[in-house]
Amino acid sequence: MARSKPRNPPLRVLVTAGPTREHVDPVRFFSNESSGRMGFALAEAAARAGHAVTLVAGPVELPTPARVRRVDVESAREMLAACRRAFRGADVLVMAAAVADWRPARVLPGKWRAKDGGARRATLALVRNPDILSTLAARKGRRIVCGFALETGAGERRARGKLARKGLDCIVLNDASALNSERTRVLLLGRDGSRTGLAGSKARVARELMRKLERMARP
Ligand code: CTP
Repeated sequence: MARSKPRNPPLRVLVTAGPTREHVDPVRFFSNESSGRMGFALAEAAARAGHAVTLVAGPVELPTPARVRRVDVESAREMLAACRRAFRGADVLVMAAAVADWRPARVLPGKWRAKDGGARRATLALVRNPDILSTLAARKGRRIVCGFALETGAGERRARGKLARKGLDCIVLNDASALNSERTRVLLLGRDGSRTGLAGSKARVARELMRKLERMARP
């Protein structure tokens, strides 16, 4: 599909996508089920609309959309560092990544061994990862900041809570059934109390979300 000409000067859009990976030892890690598809679809939609896009991606097996600058990261702390750099020159942040809230307190330098005949139980100390979205939103200035929320119950109330607590302009409430699927159904909740339902392929929903974000960035 041809790139459409932006009606206004292009926006600089920062999108995050995929899971983060938090290592326990050199060969094991914590992660989650995020496929990265929604974030990649958003980056693609933004680039096709003529915007300048940086995509900070956790470990996923997806091709980089055309005209998108991709920065690959693994852990939440690496994602924060990459986002801090790109956020300086951004107009819009869309935080679609599924960032691990916790990481092992210590990364073992060698393989964690089971030791034959040893203990039947083990515990692993975890420490909190930085909240990337809250950290960046606290310095948002005139930027538009959009979060994502994947909830399993009381979705709208919880998502609205995150919107307020993290200081966002809007939040996309995602249906848990969308994980790893081509299609999705989301609810876009705005700081102004607005509420818009969007459904269809991830590409289509991404285009509609980008249009909404464009309007917020250029009222
Ligand atoms: N997020 C982030 N950094 C984290 C955790 C989450 O930037 N350490 C972002 C996600 O990318 C998403 C939003 O915050 O855009 C909401 O993420 P979610 O995991 O639903 O919320 P949490 O704050 O982790 O709350 P909870 O786990 O209690 O649902």
